[in-house]
Amino acid sequence: MPATGTPRHPGIAEAAEILRAGGLVAFPTETVYGLGADATDGRAVARIFAAKGRPSFNPLIVHVPDADAARRIAVFDPVAETLAAAFWPGPLTLVLPLREGHGLSPLVTAGLDTVGLRVPSGEMARALLRSVGRPVAAPSANPSGRISPTRAAHVRAGLGDAVDAVLDGGPCAVGLESTILRTSPLALLRAGGLAAEAIEARLGRPLPRDETPGRVQAPGQLASHYAPSIPVRLDVAGHDPDAILIGFGPVAGDVTLSATGDLVEAAANLFDLLHVADARARAEGKARIDMAPVPETGLGRAINDRLRRAAAPRIAQA
Ligand code: TXA
Ligand code: MG
Repeated sequence: MPATGTPRHPGIAEAAEILRAGGLVAFPTETVYGLGADATDGRAVARIFAAKGRPSFNPLIVHVPDADAARRIAVFDPVAETLAAAFWPGPLTLVLPLREGHGLSPLVTAGLDTVGLRVPSGEMARALLRSVGRPVAAPSANPSGRISPTRAAHVRAGLGDAVDAVLDGGPCAVGLESTILRTSPLALLRAGGLAAEAIEARLGRPLPRDETPGRVQAPGQLASHYAPSIPVRLDVAGHDPDAILIGFGPVAGDVTLSATGDLVEAAANLFDLLHVADARARAEGKARIDMAPVPETGLGRAINDRLRRAAAPRIAQA
């Protein structure tokens, strides 16, 4: 991984190399500047959350150079095919079921079985994606809770040396994040740079908004977030014969998020290990998953947020 320092201003080939090596590269798209990482590399993706200072993990949009690359990651239904043909490349993100063997880190989708895919139209973004040859996860390149950047200078001011390199493509043409659409069941999840009317005109029917009125598709509100099949108990420092223990740092556990207490490694392992612990607990007849304490600092806040959701009682969501 490149050493941090003042973000550099590389060419596209160099930026692609930084991404392949697990670094973070901010790059222009037609909507806003994205903070990109190799979507197949869990540690690289974890660094996105660390750089943005996000208090929770939400699913990130995955950027690919064309529809063929998208079809290798997700399953397209006829509506998705129609919209991709009409609006890609462009400011439309399609939320689609993951295809087997997709290769993405589970951190990208926050453990969901769907993925938000987008083919940006900005020339620099397209050239970068072709050069990387891997899907690139990229939220807007701003610190959590701040305004999305539409110029390279905004990125440098907001993220400073948390990003390894910034590609400068001038101001973004659209300046508003992409429109997010789920195709099955059809719903507009986020209004954005592509007008809903244009989508409705292409489909020849009105677009249902997300079925829950007034509810934003924000991180913790995605109802399908992965939760283990058995109870999860937090802040457990020792072994209990009835439970599989997920360790962290000094608490060894049956499996560990990070033996060295590295929060980036822990974030990269989180969703995988919840699945692993769940399967092992069931195979070994254990009633519970116990989780070692994780410090409430840096990425630890997002990890704990996710663990608290996994540990929350399963009440039917209103
Ligand atoms: O214009 C854009 O879309 C910018 C540029 C950089 O491409 N990217 C962007 O990405 O806004 P991001 O990661 O900030 O958008 C994440 C949002 C999530 O909060 C969620 O609303 C939605 O995308 N999303 C992603 N994957 C999803 C999924 N599987 N199911 C539902 N919503 C999803
Ligand atoms: Mg954003």
